[in-house]
Amino acid sequence: MNTSIPATVYQKRRATIAKALKAAGGGIALLPTASEYPRNRDSDFPYRHDSYFYYLTGFTEPASWLAIEASGKTTLFCRPKDLEREIWDGIRLGPKAAPESLGVDEAFSVETLDEKMSLLLANQNAVWFPFATHKGLETQVDGWLNKVRARIRFGAECPQSQHDLCKLLDEMRLIKDAHEIAILRRAGVISAGAHVRAMQVSAALLRQPAKGVKSALTVVPREYHLEAELLHEFRRHGSQYPAYTSIVAAGANACILHYRADTAELKTGELCLIDAGCELDGYASDITRTFPVSGTFTPAQRTLYDIVLRAQEAAIAVTKPGKRFTDPHDAATRVLVQGMLDVGLLDTKKHGTVDDVLLSGAYRQFYMHRTGHWMGMDVHDCGDYTEPGSKPREEKDALGKMVMKKPPRILQPGMVLTIEPGIYVRPAKGVPKQFWNIGIRIEDDALITAKGCELMTRGVPVKADEIEALMRG
Ligand code: GLY
Ligand code: MN
Ligand code: MN
Repeated sequence: MNTSIPATVYQKRRATIAKALKAAGGGIALLPTASEYPRNRDSDFPYRHDSYFYYLTGFTEPASWLAIEASGKTTLFCRPKDLEREIWDGIRLGPKAAPESLGVDEAFSVETLDEKMSLLLANQNAVWFPFATHKGLETQVDGWLNKVRARIRFGAECPQSQHDLCKLLDEMRLIKDAHEIAILRRAGVISAGAHVRAMQVSAALLRQPAKGVKSALTVVPREYHLEAELLHEFRRHGSQYPAYTSIVAAGANACILHYRADTAELKTGELCLIDAGCELDGYASDITRTFPVSGTFTPAQRTLYDIVLRAQEAAIAVTKPGKRFTDPHDAATRVLVQGMLDVGLLDTKKHGTVDDVLLSGAYRQFYMHRTGHWMGMDVHDCGDYTEPGSKPREEKDALGKMVMKKPPRILQPGMVLTIEPGIYVRPAKGVPKQFWNIGIRIEDDALITAKGCELMTRGVPVKADEIEALMRG
């Protein structure tokens, strides 16, 4: 994979970690990339590097490790050059070329990892590694530490403490730099184009041929036809793969939150919800659009669609520096609840006012997820959702119970989050029938700027009229 980010940027990130280790009293940080996973027999699942490792190296080969010492010295372990394996699996960078190419101080074959790691760990007062992202890593580190302990009689000192490296990296990754923002913007543009294409193809597939004209498109239109268009558009613009499994949900399937594109038919009069985004050079995008498969919303669909859109607009208005991470969710939920009461999804007589419903949580029958999440290298990216360094305070939870909670994170320029309200109506007693089986979500990716936010995914229309116009075109 080509990275458009210069090696010096990764070098600076490694230097920041070294500085943090120094500030914490010294030590060494260890970080492996992701493992390869066999699919069956001779086939592996498509390989995807570890995001933390990539953030510090820009290196995408498997079986690689990085060590950063508080002194600033960096060591890489990677696969050795091997003509036989390279004929089968592709060219390897190799330890000889790695320092020049990646800007690390030293590089060794990963075959020497066990021997070299215990030497690197000796006489360090602390070791930092990711605690929760690599199965078996603690045991591996323990094995190396035991080797150091075995040499204590010869004067070696063993690290006295272990810390979670992600604590340092999560905070860095939360604020995106100009290089990252450029890639995220481009990923957003590609994904938006894919949604446009899916809408257009949906309308074309559903269009009835004129009388007596044999249609060139004789297929029964299905969810997977639209998924194919998404993948085509991602890949033809250089995206390596989708950032997550694409959801293409026709009709009632839209009410299943983690539905995947399958075989359901796209039927005139129904909606299709697509939640899909590409990954480009290690960075995600995450867009949802909901559209009428044949190009025209029914009145009931349009009513709910406009409520969700207004909810998103309310959330966007408070997605800016100084606001808290939960403010967009609270703003969107208030609008959704008002809409649910207005159209009779919730009975005012039974449920009371908007504030009553916010307190009772009755809206969760139709809106059961949060309005956003951090996004970056991972579609659900890392970063604390509460304000670091703040004290827990007593507050009411959604059910009115007093709980101790840290205040939510204050939004800052450079953070990236999604804004994705929705309404999902499963058939149920007391729910107006005209809304049954309608599922709508609208999702865009927002970069917090100095004064507000930039929506990086608006290359695909979001207003109902604009979607209809696009699909007519
Ligand atoms: N596509 C995953 C999400 O929207 O959170
Ligand atoms: Mn999302
Ligand atoms: Mn999504």
